[in-house]
Amino acid sequence: MRMLEVLTQTPPARVESSGKAMITSAQISRRVHAMGREISRVYAVIETPLVLVVILKGATVFAADLLRSLSVPAELEFVRAASYGSGTSRGELRLAHMIDGPLVDRHVLLVEDIVDSGHTVEAITRRVRRMKPASLRLAALLDRPARRAVKVNIDFKGFVIPDRFVIGYGLDYAGLYRELPGIYSLG
Ligand code: PRP
Repeated sequence: MRMLEVLTQTPPARVESSGKAMITSAQISRRVHAMGREISRVYAVIETPLVLVVILKGATVFAADLLRSLSVPAELEFVRAASYGSGTSRGELRLAHMIDGPLVDRHVLLVEDIVDSGHTVEAITRRVRRMKPASLRLAALLDRPARRAVKVNIDFKGFVIPDRFVIGYGLDYAGLYRELPGIYSLG
């Protein structure tokens, strides 16, 4: 596989220095802060703390920055979803962990790093709706519409990206490269 060959020939330290970022860390930072301000405005009047439901693992980096960009109180919950195997092709979607706390009458914001086919957020949205939240919205740093298979409404969106496999800022290839501060495309 071409991508695998590229990666096996390129040690992690060189991925960042060998290519230009598709989205730089400075661009991400500006956008995430703007999203934080927008989200804070939307939820300014709610009476209970907002519940951020972070979709593991890819969204953790985005969620940590987004949380610190909010000016409204927020709690953190996590769901574990995995749809990719060890490479870039789609595997079976698994929801391995759902939220412990009750979400009845709470305002819930799903936090996702990338919406691709849409299957992950669609499945999680369906499960969270059953918990009867007062409202449910979605914040996604990246929107890759080229591979969309189900309709997804992204309430707060960072960037729309082309049909490229991307790594960095929480997004991985075979579990690696999540630590890169910017977003890079492979191939
Ligand atoms: C990635 C990404 C999203 C999902 C998007 O997760 O973090 O959760 O795929 O794809 P979809 O819109 O086609 O469902 P992945 O399964 O790679 O797990 P990870 O977040 O733990 O890396």
